[in-house]
Amino acid sequence: MRFTRTVGRIAAVALLFTGLVSFGPATPVATGDRQPRIDKELFGTTPEGVRVDRYTLTNGRGMRVRIITYGGIIQSIEVPDRHGRTANVALGFNNLTDYLENNSPYFGCITGRYANRIANGRFTLDGVTYQLAQNNGQNHLHGGNVGFDKVHWAATEIRERDVVGLALRRVSPAGEENYPGALDTTVTYRLTRDNTIRIDYRATTDAPTIVNLTNHTYFNLAGEGSGDINDHRLMLNASRYTPVDETLIPTGDLDRVAGTPMDFRRATAIGERIRNNFEQLVIGRGYDHNYVLDRRDPTFRELELAGRVFEPTSGRVLTVRTTEPGIQFYSGNFLDGTLVGTSGRMYRQGDGFALETQHFPDSPNQPNFPTTVLRPGQVYQTTTTYGFGTA
Ligand code: GLA
Repeated sequence: MRFTRTVGRIAAVALLFTGLVSFGPATPVATGDRQPRIDKELFGTTPEGVRVDRYTLTNGRGMRVRIITYGGIIQSIEVPDRHGRTANVALGFNNLTDYLENNSPYFGCITGRYANRIANGRFTLDGVTYQLAQNNGQNHLHGGNVGFDKVHWAATEIRERDVVGLALRRVSPAGEENYPGALDTTVTYRLTRDNTIRIDYRATTDAPTIVNLTNHTYFNLAGEGSGDINDHRLMLNASRYTPVDETLIPTGDLDRVAGTPMDFRRATAIGERIRNNFEQLVIGRGYDHNYVLDRRDPTFRELELAGRVFEPTSGRVLTVRTTEPGIQFYSGNFLDGTLVGTSGRMYRQGDGFALETQHFPDSPNQPNFPTTVLRPGQVYQTTTTYGFGTA
C-alpha cells in the first residue's frame, strides 16, 4: 500500500517535471477547478415541453453541487472524505424522467407551501376554513398533490466574491393547491468556499396565508447507494420534540427527550436505538419527528446550531445551522427498495436521512406552536446552512 503510494507519487512528480500534468492541491479534487464557478446544461425536457436545466456549482475546494430547475432539486452534493476522495452524499436520480415519473420521495427538493403535515388538510385563518389536498392518508403533506417540489423555478445565477449560487423564484398563484394568497417565493442556494451550502428562503403574499418552507435532501455521508445510515452518529441540539399520533400529526405536547431513544443531545449512532419498542419509534417506523431546537434567540433570526452528523468510515461531518425553531429528523423509513438512485443502486429502508429545518408540523392547528401565518406587508425569511467537513 505504502509502496504503491510512493511509486504513484514519484510518477506524478516525474510527470510534473516533464510538463505533462499540472500539479493541483495535495488531494486532487474531482472538479479540477480552483476557482468557484457555475455551469448550466440541459437536464431534460418535460412531456409538456418545458426545458429543465441543471446548474453545477463548484467552489474550487473540492465541493460540487448540482441543482435542477424542476422542484429546485439538489440533485447531487459531491464532498471530499478525510482522504480527499469525493463522493456524492445526496440521494437522487440521474435523469429527469425518474424525478417526474418515479414518485420521488421528495429527494432534494424545495418543499412547500407547507412542508410537513397539516391534520386532515384543514386549517382556519381569519375565520375562513381552507380544505387542502389530503395526500398522505387523511392528512396534507409537503404542499399537496403538486407542491413546490413538482413545479418549475426560474433561475438566476449568482456570482459573488468567492461564492457562486442560484436564486430560484416562483409566484404561486392564489388558490394553487387551495392555499390563499399569491405567494412570491425565492429560494437562494449558495456554495461557499468553506464547503457550506447556504439556503435562504424568502416569500411575500398579497393575502393572509400560511407558509413553511424547507429542503428535503436525503443524505448518506458514506455516499448515496453505499448502504444504510445506521452507523452515522447524530447530534441534535434539542431537549424536546413534538410527539405524534398514529397519523404522524403532533399531539400538541413538547415532550422531553431525556431518558428516551429520542435523545440525541450527545452524538449517538442512528441505528443504536431505532428498533426500540418505544411507542414514537413504532408509530414512525423509526425516526420521523420534529425536534424543538434549543435556541438562544427566540425571535428566529439568528443562525444557530441545529445538529451535526459524523460518518466514521469516510470521516465526513455535516453541520446544520438554522434560524428555524424545529428540525424534522427522518431516517428514511419509507424507502423500500423500489427506487434505483443516481449511481444505479437500489435505495432500501434507512439508506438516507433527512434533516428538514422547519416550523413545527400542523402549526396552523396548534395555537401553542410558533406561528406560520404570513400577511401582506410581512416578509417570510429563513436561512439554513449545511456545512461539510471531515474529522
Ligand atoms: C417527511 C415526512 C415523512 C415522509 C417523507 C417523504 O420527512 O415526515 O413521513 O413522508 O417526508 O417520504
